[in-house]
Amino acid sequence: MTNQSLHHRTLKCQVIELMLATIDNPSNAVEWVMREMMSKPTILKRAVEELDKVVGCNRLVEESDLPQLNYIKACIKESFRLHPFAPFNVPHCSEKDTVVAGYFIPKGSHFDPDRHLGENEKQVVLTDNELRMLSFSTRKRGCPGVILGSTITTMLLARMIQGFSWEKPNEELGKLVENHDDLQLAKPLVAIAKPRLPQYLYPKC
Ligand code: HEM
Repeated sequence: MTNQSLHHRTLKCQVIELMLATIDNPSNAVEWVMREMMSKPTILKRAVEELDKVVGCNRLVEESDLPQLNYIKACIKESFRLHPFAPFNVPHCSEKDTVVAGYFIPKGSHFDPDRHLGENEKQVVLTDNELRMLSFSTRKRGCPGVILGSTITTMLLARMIQGFSWEKPNEELGKLVENHDDLQLAKPLVAIAKPRLPQYLYPKC
């Protein structure tokens, strides 16, 4: 009979992978969506308005608020569409009008979270059961951290835009360019954060 127990080094690698994925993937996703939203102030404003309406300004957003934050989730999903985590998703923006497999794809691609707020969908979820988007991959190679990843990503974005107003530094944000190696932003996002909630909601340093 073969020994089926895992070697301690294998276990250590698995734990490290889980820890890195839990921190890296949601924070990279939020960096992209913040970058997109900062280029489109009306979208950022609408996300802030949703938070003010659902949560208000006298407490911080909680996990229990997430089911009602559909516009915030639609923004994340739209960012997943344009900036997939792994290169197996069809990228991103057509440079000219084109037809692929019988489908007409117009020139340009827009950051349009509304496309995910379908009339029949009561709840925006970051996955897509019909596999039009493979943000978390699927089946055996699929991400085991879908629920955790969706929750952390939404909480992180919601807390950042609820807690702070965001401005560009003096120089422009620059072009939206991704790294050749890993599809992350080529240059880290630099932004100025100003508190926008009552002082008692911020931890004392
Ligand atoms: C925004 C959040 C996340 C996104 C977009 C994401 C996306 C993905 C994708 C696309 C894959 C498949 C990669 C491939 O086929 O090569 C994957 C795999 C994986 N993810 Fe995530 N992930 C996220 C969060 C997390 C979290 C929070 C965890 C930790 C619990 C996690 C753990 C993993 C692991 C362990 C794999 C490898 C699965 C395997 O190869 O069997 N991910 N993820």
